[in-house]
Amino acid sequence: MKPFHTYVTREIPSVGLDLLLEAGSVETWQDDVPPPREELLSRVAEADALLCLLTDRIDAEVLDAAPKLKVVSAYAVGVDNIDVAAATERGICVCNTPGVLTNATADLTWALILAAARRIVEADACTRKGEWHSWGPRLMVGKPVAQSTLGIIGMGRIGQAVARRAMGFEMPILYHSGKQYPDIERLTGAKYVDLDTLLAESDFVTIHTPLTPETRGMIGANRLARMKPSAVLVNTARGPIVDQPALTEALREGRLYAAGLDVFEVEPVSQQDPLLELPNVVALPHIGSADETTRNAMARMAAEAILDVSAGRLPAHLVNYDVWDHRR
Ligand code: DGY
Repeated sequence: MKPFHTYVTREIPSVGLDLLLEAGSVETWQDDVPPPREELLSRVAEADALLCLLTDRIDAEVLDAAPKLKVVSAYAVGVDNIDVAAATERGICVCNTPGVLTNATADLTWALILAAARRIVEADACTRKGEWHSWGPRLMVGKPVAQSTLGIIGMGRIGQAVARRAMGFEMPILYHSGKQYPDIERLTGAKYVDLDTLLAESDFVTIHTPLTPETRGMIGANRLARMKPSAVLVNTARGPIVDQPALTEALREGRLYAAGLDVFEVEPVSQQDPLLELPNVVALPHIGSADETTRNAMARMAAEAILDVSAGRLPAHLVNYDVWDHRR
């Protein structure tokens, strides 16, 4: 069998790159930023497989530049950067890495909940800058977390992992999702409500829904206005789900207490973005899945999808199942 050629758009952990060599040849973009568009278009021309990151826009133009391409394997669970319909039309498999990053993302969500509520970043800066003069009743007072109400938008794998962690904080949970999840309701006491009720009644709102045409801009000015002024918004999903200028205004005017953000409308967020001037924002550089175990597991899973396609096997995490159906 002719060996598969894979183009990898960034250096991923070696466990993945080594596996890819079992399918054939591998070329990896070595820079720390995504390959320029022209580079991507020219490199995919010879590729049977493309292993991409969420920073690469894989649209019809890229797919058309890749006549031999059989699989796009995303080093991510979110595939909003890939035109899945265009891939399906061209008979190209799209695969992702669900499950392996659930714990890491849920952990980071909790880091943001705690950091935003208890002003961890501000307090750290205060200590380092010599502004801690004495223990004080008003020094860095934040919002309580335990026993406050947690609102979860999107009760998929990550939303459920966040809910399980909330049990240790004795939090009542409200959730809104595409469907109801009786098992997690039984385990955590989570109650299914409509989105407006969730926003109005939660002390913490955390977003765990994929970015789709339906969820883009879902949390806009009107919905932010429904939230309690004492509430904290956390987003570890995708930036464009929230209207960022509207969020900035709500935080600036005290209509929202704080936000913990791992994702932004445009990434990396501009240093000039007014959001970064606000002390009640904790801003992270999209590191939800960034722990060593998780990143290795993502590399392995993304590579395994390519090995599967190269060997004619159904990949375990195929996003566009229709493609496979048509092959049979
Ligand atoms: C994903 O996999 O979609 C995450 O955002 C990466 O951390």
